[in-house]
Amino acid sequence: MSDYLTEENSADTVNARMGKSTNPRLRRVMHSMVEHLHAFIKDVEPTQDEWEVAIDFLTRTGQISSDRRQEYILLSDVLGVSMLVDAINHRRPDGATENTVFGPFHVDGAPRRSMGDSISLDGKGELCLYTGRVIDLDGQPIAGATVDVWSDNADGYYDVQQPGEQPEWNNRGVFTTGADGSYRFVGIKPVSYPIPNDGPVGQMLEKVERHPWRPAHMHFLVSADGHEQIVTHIFVAGDTYLQSDAVFGVKDSLIVKYRRMPDADTPWSAEFDFVMKPV
Ligand code: BEZ
Ligand code: FE
Repeated sequence: MSDYLTEENSADTVNARMGKSTNPRLRRVMHSMVEHLHAFIKDVEPTQDEWEVAIDFLTRTGQISSDRRQEYILLSDVLGVSMLVDAINHRRPDGATENTVFGPFHVDGAPRRSMGDSISLDGKGELCLYTGRVIDLDGQPIAGATVDVWSDNADGYYDVQQPGEQPEWNNRGVFTTGADGSYRFVGIKPVSYPIPNDGPVGQMLEKVERHPWRPAHMHFLVSADGHEQIVTHIFVAGDTYLQSDAVFGVKDSLIVKYRRMPDADTPWSAEFDFVMKPV
């Protein structure tokens, strides 16, 4: 093979440069990445101008990213890659609760609250009683499990998107299950909202005629010793965007029918059990 790169040998020529003692996993990853990238370029045959648009897009994606915003993760989300990586890494037995996308709005250190407490601090939205149990694959309760929850407010924004406007820790809380594995808290019936779409990812969605909306959901991060952590949401059944979630996070098993509660303190209730797989 010629040492010089040609259109025909391009991927092999690049891969042949890798050193013999390159870490085997890195070698495998780089080899495949170069092969697929070159195949993609040969498939698409970009013009020089088109390639510059791609470089500019990636440059702007990096430039808008900061400690508070991760545009590359958002890009991975809208391309379905975050959900694919999650699916590969969290293959679970039937009956175990499925994962979905983590999203950028979790905050470590949310207040620990007592069972039954409300996480809604801004007085907006329709209140909903959330109940259920954390159990293992045999249906046995898991005591001492941590249930970390967060949602947008009734205007469709997380507290961290509106500092100074929403109370700190609005619609967030951490609960610990007791002996029966149950949890119980009051939140709101969440509303659908657009993912951050004022950057390059938003522009890309617009160009390909995709909307930025996510169907209404409540986030849950459920952890317990000896069990695989669950990163998931429950979705509100009937939401307009269930079939077209901008980040492909919806799974059938996570759609919950919110029930009207005519005579209760909260107008809505939602029930969901989390079934954890041992590690
Ligand atoms: C979220 O559900 O909070 C979310 C997930 C992915 C991208 C943006 C937001
Ligand atoms: Fe969310």
